[in-house]
Amino acid sequence: MSTFQPSFPHQHLLGIEGLKEADISQIIDLADKYVDQNRQTNKKKDLLEGLTQINLFFENSTRTRMSFELAGKRLGADVINMSMSTSSIKKGETLIDTASTLNAMRPDLLVVRHGSAGAVKLLSRKVDCAVINAGDGKHEHPTQALLDALTIRRRKGRLARLTVAICGDVLHSRVARSNIHLLNIMGARVRLIGPPTLIPTGAEKLGTEVFHCMEEGLKGCDIIMMLRLQTERMHGGYFPSISEYFSLYGLDYEKLAHAKDDALILHPGPMNRGVEIDAKVADDLTRSAIQEQVEMGVAVRMACLDLLTRERRGVN
Ligand code: NCD
Repeated sequence: MSTFQPSFPHQHLLGIEGLKEADISQIIDLADKYVDQNRQTNKKKDLLEGLTQINLFFENSTRTRMSFELAGKRLGADVINMSMSTSSIKKGETLIDTASTLNAMRPDLLVVRHGSAGAVKLLSRKVDCAVINAGDGKHEHPTQALLDALTIRRRKGRLARLTVAICGDVLHSRVARSNIHLLNIMGARVRLIGPPTLIPTGAEKLGTEVFHCMEEGLKGCDIIMMLRLQTERMHGGYFPSISEYFSLYGLDYEKLAHAKDDALILHPGPMNRGVEIDAKVADDLTRSAIQEQVEMGVAVRMACLDLLTRERRGVN
């Protein structure tokens, strides 16, 4: 790794919106180097030795929480996981009270996932440490967009001028929102494909092209990002039935044939096979980079933990 480490001009990572091209490149350039480190037998560094990272998850998560935990441990931080079910939140403590309590324990990093949009930003105003948004309601999930970007850049060599289709339940997806911002900033072309009920109104204003037909929308695409139907955020009927949804919007080989021959498939997980994606397509390693996304996730989170603690480590 080069000895010159430019400073990162943000105290927290709350979203992709508001970041500059240079910020995004700085994170994914550094993450690229952490991918190499993670492929070595000895994966551990002492960069964050003495620092405390608290992962505070008010919503369920498997890969994101584990990924942040691994990232912190590989950099030598003391990592503590706090999940909603064991916390005082169950006893009626407010988010602000929880923030003040945690702040008194003097953490250096807080990684927060919450069911409400804006909750992580609110919390960041009440603490002295760096805060990373690990997903807030339907709003943003910045590290997911960054790991998607790293996966794409390593496979395609660039992000600019690629055509990326984000498909399915865009309406309830913080992954989609963060990706739309990132891809626009990096100069990619973004298409949204899904039933009218699952595409946010005014999506074109976000710098995207909207399609309601998979075959049409996938034409000429370089990247296909599939999204899970977020039924936990749905109140009411957004589509007639799962089988109807799969036949119109589920990614199978027939629909895939409309994209470019070398189009790459991404999915943030968890995947629902036979709902938004055909099981065989998901497992086709010649087409899908879904496992690679998980690998890139750890590296991207290491880069974020590194950059956001540079000032307190006196690295700048
Ligand atoms: C996503 C999330 O939680 O927003 N998953 C993830 O972070 N790996 C997408 C989803 O839940 O469908």
